Amino acid sequence: MGKLAPSILAADFSKLGEEALLVTKSGADYLHIDVMDGHFVPNISFGAGVMKSLDKMDVAPYDVHLMIEEPAKYLGDFITERTEYITIHQEADRHLNRTLNLIRSLGVKAGISINPGTPAESLSEVLGDVDLVLIMSVNPGFGGQKFIESSYDKIRRLAKMREEGGYNFLIEVDGGVTEENIGNLKEAGVDIFVAGSEVFGAKNIQSKVEQLKEIIK
Ligand code: DX5
Ligand code: ZN
Repeated sequence: MGKLAPSILAADFSKLGEEALLVTKSGADYLHIDVMDGHFVPNISFGAGVMKSLDKMDVAPYDVHLMIEEPAKYLGDFITERTEYITIHQEADRHLNRTLNLIRSLGVKAGISINPGTPAESLSEVLGDVDLVLIMSVNPGFGGQKFIESSYDKIRRLAKMREEGGYNFLIEVDGGVTEENIGNLKEAGVDIFVAGSEVFGAKNIQSKVEQLKEIIK
């Protein structure tokens, strides 16, 4: 059963709480929280304060995606009672083993993400230290971009590495996920699907969540 993680980056921030509750009630498994620092990616999104406000509502657990340099410095800020995953970027940290272990020692699941230009094989030394591998299928920084087709091959290779190595991390895909490609991504080996504009840009958010969940079930 695939899991759906709508990215609140694409929500209407003037009614963020309302929309976060709506996707939760419609069946979203996680809220995907995109944190951008204007250094690692060419855009700034929002910080931990947004999560703390959402904490007051009965929303889905957080899947936090840190697109920031030196993530180890800020981990504590992003751990609230709803945080289930914290994902850092392979390209943003020189001490991956240390930071991934630190995330787990703080009581949350550890994820590692790679940009489209970074090979899956570059993760070989940390696959035993993670609960999640997030494959970026667009260049991170902005919602609403077109899915990069070579991501399929990368996901298949990663799924093979998981099988051959006997690992049990989940595979997540992020960027340009739509009702057209989500079924093929499931077949390629994806477990958790991030969708921003496809969900929050839909005319009817609830039926979009239900439709995507139906395809990945
Ligand atoms: C991109 C973010 C994504 C983004 C996805 O840097 O990491 O999570 O919000 O948005 P869509 O689904 O619109 O491509
Ligand atoms: Zn993301």
